[in-house]
Amino acid sequence: MIVADQVADVRRAIRDARYRNLPIGCVPTMGALHAGHASLIEAARCECRFVVVTIFVNPTQFGPQEDFTRYPRPLENDLALCRQAGVDLVFVPSLESLYPTDFGTFVEIEPLSRVLEGAFRPGHFRGVATIVLKLLNIVQPDVAYFGRKDFQQQLVVRKMCREFDLPVEIRTCPTVREPDGLALSSRNRFLEGADRQNALVLSQALFLAERRLKAGEHDVRAVCAQMTQHMESAGAAVDYAAVADPETLIELAAPIPDMIALVAAHVGPTRLIDNLPIALEHRP
Ligand code: PAJ
Repeated sequence: MIVADQVADVRRAIRDARYRNLPIGCVPTMGALHAGHASLIEAARCECRFVVVTIFVNPTQFGPQEDFTRYPRPLENDLALCRQAGVDLVFVPSLESLYPTDFGTFVEIEPLSRVLEGAFRPGHFRGVATIVLKLLNIVQPDVAYFGRKDFQQQLVVRKMCREFDLPVEIRTCPTVREPDGLALSSRNRFLEGADRQNALVLSQALFLAERRLKAGEHDVRAVCAQMTQHMESAGAAVDYAAVADPETLIELAAPIPDMIALVAAHVGPTRLIDNLPIALEHRP
């Protein structure tokens, strides 16, 4: 496994893989890798003969009050996971190499990046789109892998690739959960004491919405209110509980055949997000 911290070294390895006609897959991450990331690497391995993982805690997607400096950086564990997962190249760039002090080019994805996560984390998707564009330009993969766990993020990335004509296919892989339903996240390690149990209210709220909508409930706003109430009952501070169109993220008042339920809440000091696709078998 090659570990590169310089763009020029990545480009050299990629040129070599291209010369050997190997399909190239890329999994962008911020490290603190867990089984969710491993599932993306596994999906990449199934399709691509040369798999690249990028590990970079991207400052431009964190707000001023957010956890950029506290974000976990267990590099040795991450490299061991990558090695075990059969990764060919890990790109671990320095901050200065990707963002020199005079850096000033940013990508805006409108209007997707203004709703839901974007409304609560202004500038977040501008930072995500900018770093993903940079990473895709450096690695130039055939396929890039993202998790459904960050549903809005994969929509933003897809829209950017489409509208900037990037020659890359985007795959979205299912959310990996703990046996009790909690979606795996690098931030779960901050859940202390009762917070770990209380964090279950996010996935519970989503499953509750699924049950109600599948049972024929027509009042989507009432379902959202119930999701909020359920999360608040465990002391979570809810940012949003929404049921939306999975393409536009416009919130729904009445059910449609394919929907996405999304929640964000603070459990103790930790902000968590989760979502669940809901498909109605009996069309409304
Ligand atoms: P990070 O949070 O490290 O996530 C990297 C990738 O892993 C994302 O595509 C995310 O959706 C996916 N992922 C996280 N938890 C998952 C889970 N439980 N199941 C399946 N996939 C999961 O997302 C980012 O980093 C950054 O915003 C990044 C795209 C790297 C840009 O900086």
